[in-house]
Amino acid sequence: MSGQHAAPEAAPLRAPEPDGAATGVWSTGVRRGDDGALSVAGVDVREIARTHGTPAYVVDEADLRGRARAFAEAFDAAFAESAGMAGADVYYAGKAFLSVAVARWVHEEGLRLDTSTGGELAVALRAGVPGEAIGLHGNNKSDDEIRTALAHGVGRIVVDSLAEVERVATLAAEAGTRAPVMVRVTTGVHAGGHDFIATAHEDQKFGLSLASGAARKAVDEILARDSLELVGLHSHIGSQIVDLAGFEVAARAVLGLRAEIAAETGFLAPEVDLGGGYGIRYTAADDVPPAPAQIAATLADAVRRVCAELGTPVPRVSVEPGRSIAGPAGLTLYTVGTVKEVALDDGGTRTYVSVDGGMSDNIRTALYDAAYTATLAGRRPDAGAVTARVVGKHCESGDIVVRDVALPADVRAGDLLAVPATGAYGRSMASNYNMVPRPPVLAATQDGVRVLVRRETVEDLLALDLG
Ligand code: LLP
Repeated sequence: MSGQHAAPEAAPLRAPEPDGAATGVWSTGVRRGDDGALSVAGVDVREIARTHGTPAYVVDEADLRGRARAFAEAFDAAFAESAGMAGADVYYAGKAFLSVAVARWVHEEGLRLDTSTGGELAVALRAGVPGEAIGLHGNNKSDDEIRTALAHGVGRIVVDSLAEVERVATLAAEAGTRAPVMVRVTTGVHAGGHDFIATAHEDQKFGLSLASGAARKAVDEILARDSLELVGLHSHIGSQIVDLAGFEVAARAVLGLRAEIAAETGFLAPEVDLGGGYGIRYTAADDVPPAPAQIAATLADAVRRVCAELGTPVPRVSVEPGRSIAGPAGLTLYTVGTVKEVALDDGGTRTYVSVDGGMSDNIRTALYDAAYTATLAGRRPDAGAVTARVVGKHCESGDIVVRDVALPADVRAGDLLAVPATGAYGRSMASNYNMVPRPPVLAATQDGVRVLVRRETVEDLLALDLG
C-alpha cells in the first residue's frame, strides 16, 4: 500500500505502543484498549475529548507524582547522613510546567519548588508552598520580584550578577531582613544531549563566571554585607542531558571554588546546587535516560570523591529537575482536520495531517527542531502506514508538531491523535499566535478527569484588548 509513498531521508518512526513504564515515552498510566483507543489512568481519551474538547494537555497525575517521589527518595537515600553525606533537597523547576495543583503535588511528594519569575513565585505561594521551600532564580529579577520573595521568606535567591548582589542587599536592608542568597556560577561546562564541552569562557547571559573571577567577586561582596547570608553555590549546565559526565565536571568546578573560598576566607558554603537538566525520551529513537537512583548515586559519588580530594566536608546538595518530572507525565490530544497528500521532489508523497493546535501549544519542534511522535488515539487503523507530518493550524510553514511519523493511511478528519512527552515546556511555552486560545491542562486520575487550568477562550483574549 505504501508503494506511492517514497521513504523519506530517514524512515519515519512509529510511535512506540504505550506499555506502562517500559518505553518511557508514554506516561505509566497510558494504555491502548481492544478497540484501539488510548486511555490515561483508565480514562478513555475519546471521553476526555468529548467532555473537554481538543486540543488538550492531559497530565497523568499518578505518573507525575511518582516521578517527583522517585527523585525525592533517590536523593534522600544517596545523600543520607548514614552514607556520610549532608542530605539533599530536590527542587521541582516550575518553568517546565506550573499550576497550583502541580505545585501542591510536588510539595506533597517531598520536593521544594524552584521559580524563576514573580509569576511562578505567585503560583507556588497560591499553592501554599512555604516560602522557605521556594527558590527564586532569574537573570533579570525586578525589584518587585525580589521584594515579594523577601516578604515571603523564600529559602534562597540565586543571584545572577554583581549588580544584583547590590540590589538584593539594599532591598533586604530596607525590608529589615537578611536575604539568603546563592551565587549562580558559570563553570564553563555546557551540556545538552550527549554532547558536552568544557570551555574556559561562556558567551551566554546566565550566571557569574568562574574563570573570570566574577563568581568569586560576588561571594566576597556577599560576605561583606550584613543584609546577605551566603547559603551556597549554584551550577546549572544545560537541559535534556542524558550523559551524567558533564554534571561531574561541573560539581568538581563548584566544589573547587567552595574549597578555595574556605581556605581564603574561612567561610565554607553549606550548600551546593547542581541544577537540573536530566533528559527524557521523546521518541523510541532517543536513548533511555538514567533513572533518578542512578543520577543521585552518580552525583553523590562525585561529591564525596571530590570533597575527599579537596579535604573539605561534603555540603548539603540540591538539584532542580523540571522536564524529567513533568515531561513524560503529559500528552497532548488533538483532533485531525485536513489531510493532504503533497508531492515530494523525489517522486514520493508526504501526508500532511493538520490538527487543531500547533506551534502555539508546542513551540519546541519549530524552536529546537525537537523530535516528537504521535499515534492514532481513538480507534484501530484500517490501513497500513504512510509517512506523515503532523502540522498545526497556524499561518506559518514551520508550524510542525511532529516532523516524521508513520500514521495509518486512513487517518482522516475527526480522528484523535495523541502526542506523548509534552508535559514539560508545552503549556509553559504556549502562545496565542494567530489569536488561538491556549488549551486546558487536565489531570487524569483513577477518579476521572479534573481541570487544572481551564481552556482559554477568544473572550479571554478580547478582554485584554481595550479597543
Ligand atoms: N534550573 C535552572 C537554573 C534552569 O535554568 C533550568 C532550565 C532548570 C533548572 C530545569 O531544567 P530541566 O530539568 O527542565 O531540563 N525550554 C527548553 C528548556 C529550557 C530550560 C531552561 N532552564 C526546552 O523546551 O527544552
